Amino acid sequence: MWKYSAFSLLLCATTSVAQFDRSLYSTSPPVYPSPNITGAGGWDEALEKAKAFLKELTLEEKTGIVTGTPGPCVGNVAPISRLGFSGLCLQDGPLAVRQAALASVFNAQLSAAASWDRSLSHKRGKLLAEEFRGKGSHILLGPVIGPLGRSPFGGRNWEGFSPDPYLSGVLVEETVLGMQSVGVQATTKHWVGNEQETHRFPNNRDGKTIEALSSNIDDKTMHETYMWPFANAVRAGSVSIMCSYNRLNSSYGCQNSKTLNGLLKTELGFQGYVMSDWGAVHSGVDAILAGLDMNMPGGLDFNVSEPSFFGGNLTLAVNNGSVPIERLNDMVLRVMTPYYFLKQDAGYPSVDGSSESLGIFDEENYRHQYTLGGTVDVRGDHGEVIRELGAAGTVLLKNINGTLPLKHPKNIGVFGSDAADMTQGLYVEVNINWALPNHNFEYGPTAIGGGSGSGRFSYIVPPLEAIKAKGNSYGALVQYVTSNFAIKNNALKSNTPMLAPSPPDVCLVFLKSWAGEGWDRTSLIAEFDSTIVVEKVTEVCPNTVVVLHGAAPIVMPWKDNPRVTAILAAHMPGQETGNAIVDILWGDVNPSGKLPYTIANAETDYAKNIVNLTEPVTDPNAWQAYFTEGNLIDYKEFDAQNKSVAYEFGFGLSYTTFELSNLRIEISKGNISRTPSVTAKILPGGNVELWETLVNVTVTVKNTGEISGDAVPELYLSLPSESGVGTPVSSLRGFDKVFLKPGETNTVEFPLQRRDLSFWDTVTQTWKLPSAAIGVNVGFSSRDFKLNGEITI
Ligand SMILES: *[C@@H]1O[C@H](CO)[C@@H](O)[C@H](O)[C@H]1NC(C)=O
Ligand SMILES: *[C@@H]1O[C@H](CO)[C@@H](O)[C@H](O)[C@H]1NC(C)=O
Ligand SMILES: *[C@@H]1O[C@H](CO)[C@@H](O)[C@H](O)[C@H]1NC(C)=O
Ligand SMILES: *[C@@H]1O[C@H](CO)[C@@H](O)[C@H](O)[C@H]1NC(C)=O
Ligand SMILES: *[C@@H]1O[C@H](CO)[C@@H](O)[C@H](O)[C@H]1NC(C)=O
Ligand SMILES: *[C@@H]1O[C@H](CO)[C@@H](O)[C@H](O)[C@H]1NC(C)=O
Ligand SMILES: *[C@@H]1O[C@H](CO)[C@@H](O)[C@H](O)[C@H]1NC(C)=O
Ligand SMILES: *[C@@H]1O[C@H](CO)[C@@H](O)[C@H](O)[C@H]1NC(C)=O
Ligand SMILES: *[C@@H]1O[C@H](CO)[C@@H](O)[C@H](O)[C@H]1NC(C)=O
Ligand SMILES: *[C@@H]1O[C@H](CO)[C@@H](O)[C@H](O)[C@H]1NC(C)=O
Repeated sequence: MWKYSAFSLLLCATTSVAQFDRSLYSTSPPVYPSPNITGAGGWDEALEKAKAFLKELTLEEKTGIVTGTPGPCVGNVAPISRLGFSGLCLQDGPLAVRQAALASVFNAQLSAAASWDRSLSHKRGKLLAEEFRGKGSHILLGPVIGPLGRSPFGGRNWEGFSPDPYLSGVLVEETVLGMQSVGVQATTKHWVGNEQETHRFPNNRDGKTIEALSSNIDDKTMHETYMWPFANAVRAGSVSIMCSYNRLNSSYGCQNSKTLNGLLKTELGFQGYVMSDWGAVHSGVDAILAGLDMNMPGGLDFNVSEPSFFGGNLTLAVNNGSVPIERLNDMVLRVMTPYYFLKQDAGYPSVDGSSESLGIFDEENYRHQYTLGGTVDVRGDHGEVIRELGAAGTVLLKNINGTLPLKHPKNIGVFGSDAADMTQGLYVEVNINWALPNHNFEYGPTAIGGGSGSGRFSYIVPPLEAIKAKGNSYGALVQYVTSNFAIKNNALKSNTPMLAPSPPDVCLVFLKSWAGEGWDRTSLIAEFDSTIVVEKVTEVCPNTVVVLHGAAPIVMPWKDNPRVTAILAAHMPGQETGNAIVDILWGDVNPSGKLPYTIANAETDYAKNIVNLTEPVTDPNAWQAYFTEGNLIDYKEFDAQNKSVAYEFGFGLSYTTFELSNLRIEISKGNISRTPSVTAKILPGGNVELWETLVNVTVTVKNTGEISGDAVPELYLSLPSESGVGTPVSSLRGFDKVFLKPGETNTVEFPLQRRDLSFWDTVTQTWKLPSAAIGVNVGFSSRDFKLNGEITI
C-alpha cells in the first residue's frame, strides 16, 4: 500500500493547469551571442589541438567541417587530405549500427530502463560504441532522452529510457560514459520537447508552409522535467547534442537561441557541438547565430545534393558579414575538439561497407542501404550481454499459483505471432516502410522498433525457437499456434489434437505492440487481436502466461483473468529476445526489472498528450502543443489525481522476497545556502554546486526468500508546497540494484545532490532548496513505500 501524504499538492496541481497562459508562448526570448567553447571540463589540451588545426583551414574548409556532404555514412563530414583529416562518419543509431551487416542489434533503451541497472546500461553503451568504432563510424547518433515520454502514445518513446527524468538522467549518463570510453562520439538527442511524431515536419498547403508542431513548455517544467536528463548527458561529456524537429514557443528547435545559446551552452555549460536533426534546419544565418553548429545531412532537406543553408551560403554569409568569422571558428572548434579529446586523430578504423552515398534520402536509397553491409564482423560476444540485459529488462507483473518459474513442464503450448520467426527478412525497418503500423508484419518477434533507431539483424532468436530448445533439453512436448488469425478462429477448440487430451501444463502467449519513428501509436492494446487471443487461449488453458513484447506501455484488459496466472512485460530485448525470455520463464534468471513507466487500467485513463488536428489545416501556426500538465506526466499524473493504476511506475515482482529496514538520513553539516553560489564554476552539466551531495540516505535491504535475486530499493522525495504549483506528490531521486543471496543483507546508499533536493525558482532563475521539510519514502515502487522520514536543510 502507498501512503498518501500530500493532499494540498493535489489542489496546486489543478491550479497549475488553470494558470497556463497560452498567450505567453508565441515567442522565444532572444539569447545572443552564442557562447564560445572554453575547454572547461578537461578539454583544454584537445582545444589547443583543434585551434592549431583551425589555423590551417581555408574559409571553404571551415564551412565544410560544419556542413554534411554525400558519403558512405548516414551523415558525413568531408575529409581534408592535405591536413591528414579523414573526415567524420555519422551513423544511426541508438541500438545498432543501423544498416550494417555483421553487427549486433542491441536491446532498445526501453529495456535498459526497465533493468534499472547502471552497470548493464554502461556496458550496453560501451559494446554498442565498440561496434561503431569497428565499422569506422566516429559519431553514434544516440542515446535518446527526448522524447522523454510525455505521451504514452509517443511513437519513439522506446528509443529513450523513461518518462521519469531522474531515471533517464542516471541511465543516459552511464550510456554516454560507456560509449565515449571507447573513443566514439555520443550524440544525445533530441533537444528538446520532441514529444510527439504527429506533424513533426512542416508541410505545404496551397503554397503556404504549415509550420511544424510547437512544444510550449513553461520554464519550470523545462528545468524540472525535459531538460533534467540532458544536464546529466552534458555532465557525462556527451560531445554532441542533436537539436529537434519541433518548434519551441513557435521558434524551430535548431534555431532557438533560448534553448541553444541560453539553456544548453550557457546554463549547462555545453562545450561540444549542436548537430541538426536530418532536415531540421530552416535557416542559415539565423540558426548559426542561435547556436547551431553542424548541419546534417547538409542539404536543404533530407537530400544532401539539394542546396544548403550552410556550405556555400555560409561562406557567403561570412564574406558579407552576416556571420562573424569568430562564430564559424567556434563552430569548427566545437566539432574538432571532441575529435582530439577522444583521440580519433590517433588512428581510426576506416568505414566498412558501401562506398555509395547514403546521405541522399530517397526511396531508391533505402534499397542501397541493404548494400551497406560490410565485411568486418564487429559482434564479438556481445550477444551474451544483450541476452543478460534482455532478461534484466523483463518485468514480472503478475505471478499467481506459483506458476513461474516453470518447473520443467512436460507439455508446453506456445501461442501468438510474436513467438514465431521473422517472415519478411531481418531488416525490419525496410520491410515495414519505417514505422507504418505493421499490417504486413504479423509474424515475427517485435524485438525493436522502427525508423532511424532500428537495426538490421544478423540473426534473431525467436521465442518459439528458444522454447523448443529448452523443452527439448529435458524431453518436453512443445506445441504451438503462431497465427493469431487461426487462434481467433477457434483453432484451439476445433479440429486439432493439439490440446488433447488435456491442455498443456502451461500456455505461453506472446503478444506484441509496434511503434516507430514518424507515427504515434493509435492504441496501447497489443496488436493482432491480442485480447481475443488471450480469451481463446485461457478458455482452454487454465495456466496461461502472457508475455508482452515491443512498445510500452501496453494496457491489459484481461489482466485480472484468473486463468492468466503470470504476466511479463518483456519490452524490446533485441536479437536475443527468445533466450532472454526463456531465462526468466525457467528461472535461470530471477526477474529484477521494474516498470520505467505506468501501466494504467485503460488507455483512456492517461492524458493522451498528442496534438492531432483535423485536416485540412490552413493556419501556418495551428500546430501548438501546450504542456499544461507541467511536471505531472506518467506516475506524477496518476499520483496527482490519486487515480488507481494497473501496475505502477517502479513495480516489478521477483521469485524471491525482500525487506527494507533501518532508514538513516545524514545531512551535511555547515552553512548550506538555499541556492548554489553564483560565483561557482560552470562546468559541463551546469553550476558545479548542483552536483554536490548534501544528504546521504541509507537503508538496509534483506533477501527474505529462498533464492538469490536482485533487489531494487527506490527512493522518492516529496518536496513541500513552496516548491511551487504542480509539484509532484513523489519524485524518484534514488535507486540501486543489489544482488542478495537468501538471507543476505546489504546497505544501500542514496546520495542526494543539491539538484535532487531543489526546485527551479523561475523568479531568481536558479535551483533553490526548500526550507520546509522534504518527505522521504523508500520502497519497492512509486506506490509501495516501506520506510519514511524527512529532510530539513
Ligand atoms: C516559452 O515561453 C514561456 C512563457 O513565456 C517561457 O517561460 C519559456 O522560457 C519559453 N521557452 C522558450 C524555449 O522560449
Ligand atoms: C568568442 O571569441 C572571439 C575571439 O575568438 C571573440 O571575438 C568573441 O567576442 C567571443 N564571443 C563570445 C560570445 O564571448
Ligand atoms: C536530390 O537533389 C538533386 C539536386 O537538386 C536532384 O537532382 C535529385 O533528383 C534529388 N534526389 C531526389 C531523390 O529527390
Ligand atoms: C543558399 O540558400 C538558398 C535558399 O535560401 C538556395 O536557394 C541556394 O541554392 C543556396 N546556395 C547554395 C550554394 O547552397
Ligand atoms: C549574406 O549571405 C547570406 C547567405 O547567402 C544571405 O542569407 C544574406 O542575406 C546575405 N546578407 C547580405 C547583407 O547580403
Ligand atoms: C491523427 O489523425 C490522423 C487522421 O485522422 C490519423 O490517421 C492518425 O492515426 C492520428 N494519430 C494518432 C496518434 O492518433
Ligand atoms: C490458482 O489458484 C486459485 C486459488 O488460489 C485456484 O482457484 C485456481 O484454480 C488455481 N489455478 C490453477 C491454474 O491452478
Ligand atoms: C485516494 O483514493 C483512495 C481510494 O482509492 C482514498 O481512500 C483516499 O482517501 C484518496 N486520497 C486522497 C488524498 O484523495
Ligand atoms: C555521504 O557519503 C559519502 C561517502 O559515502 C561521504 O563522502 C559524504 O561526505 C557524505 N555526505 C554527507 C552529507 O553525509
Ligand atoms: C552562511 O552563508 C551566508 C551566505 O550564503 C552568509 O551570509 C552567512 O553569514 C553564513 N553564516 C555563517 C554562520 O557562516
